[in-house]
Amino acid sequence: MAKNHGDDFFTLTENKLIAKNTYRAVFEGNTKDLIAPGQFVNLKIDGFYLRRPISVADYDGQTMTLIYKAVGRGTEKLAQTTPGKVFDILTGLGNGYTLRGGKPLLIGGGAGIPPLYGLAKKFAKKGIKAVVVMGFGSKDEIFYADEFRLLSHEVRITTADGSVGTKGFVTDAFEEIDYDYFYTCGPEPMLRAVYAATNTEGQFSFEERMGCGFGGCMGCSCKTITGNRRICTEGPVIEKKDLIW
Ligand SMILES: Cc1cc2nc3c(=O)[nH]c(=O)nc-3n(C[C@H](O)[C@H](O)[C@H](O)COP(=O)(O)OP(=O)(O)OC[C@H]3O[C@@H](n4cnc5c(N)ncnc54)[C@H](O)[C@@H]3O)c2cc1C
Ligand code: FES
Repeated sequence: MAKNHGDDFFTLTENKLIAKNTYRAVFEGNTKDLIAPGQFVNLKIDGFYLRRPISVADYDGQTMTLIYKAVGRGTEKLAQTTPGKVFDILTGLGNGYTLRGGKPLLIGGGAGIPPLYGLAKKFAKKGIKAVVVMGFGSKDEIFYADEFRLLSHEVRITTADGSVGTKGFVTDAFEEIDYDYFYTCGPEPMLRAVYAATNTEGQFSFEERMGCGFGGCMGCSCKTITGNRRICTEGPVIEKKDLIW
């Protein structure tokens, strides 16, 4: 388990539908273990033995914001929870993104977009405005486009059905972007397409399905030049140069 993790109780203060099946949850509690954008938390949901990992989209001294898609029984139960409920949450998990590059390109797909928000915010605080490419299935799934616009140099949207922005996938909207480093998070087929379509170094964040969540089952491992790395304990962020793809 990550050395800096903490197990704490958090009160849900907001749980709002922001796009199709997509919710923004705000929790109040001790956020001192959150140290980098791209880290995740492991949430205990009543009635489920395994915790559910969700990336931290944003945090400050007292609150953290998670953006999640209701895709199965655990996240659907979370979506039905009303503010006031107290949750047991392991925080400060994972390595998170390391800020590099003066002209960053941020590429997110669907439920992989949330951790890039905290990263865009960190860059903006340093006076660096990123170019952001966000991929969705359709218009009704789009979230946080305006929030990213406030922090970024440019936001490009792609939808698989062409209802908004470029029709297709994130890699269809890369033309003429001037970048010197990239950051990405999304489903693995998208990550592989980004790997092939980018010509600089970058960092990949994996949202693989996890088992134990603490390094014991190898269920989340990924091949790298230094051997198999577990996404739960040695990720979720892995540099492009380390990946064997
Ligand atoms: C490090 C990390 C960060 C994550 N961050 C986010 C986030 O910020 N926002 C978000 O919406 N989701 C995120 N996820 C995915 C999230 O953990 C799963 O969607 C969640 O655990 C599903 O739980 P469930 O009980 O609802 O689904 P289950 O009942 O366990 O599964 C139901 C369905 O969901 C699918 N599913 C389960 N886990 C995943 C997964 N990891 N990726 C894709 N499909 C899955 C299953 O294949 C199945 O079809 C993250 C995952 C990891 C590992
Ligand atoms: S989920 Fe078990 S080792 Fe990562």
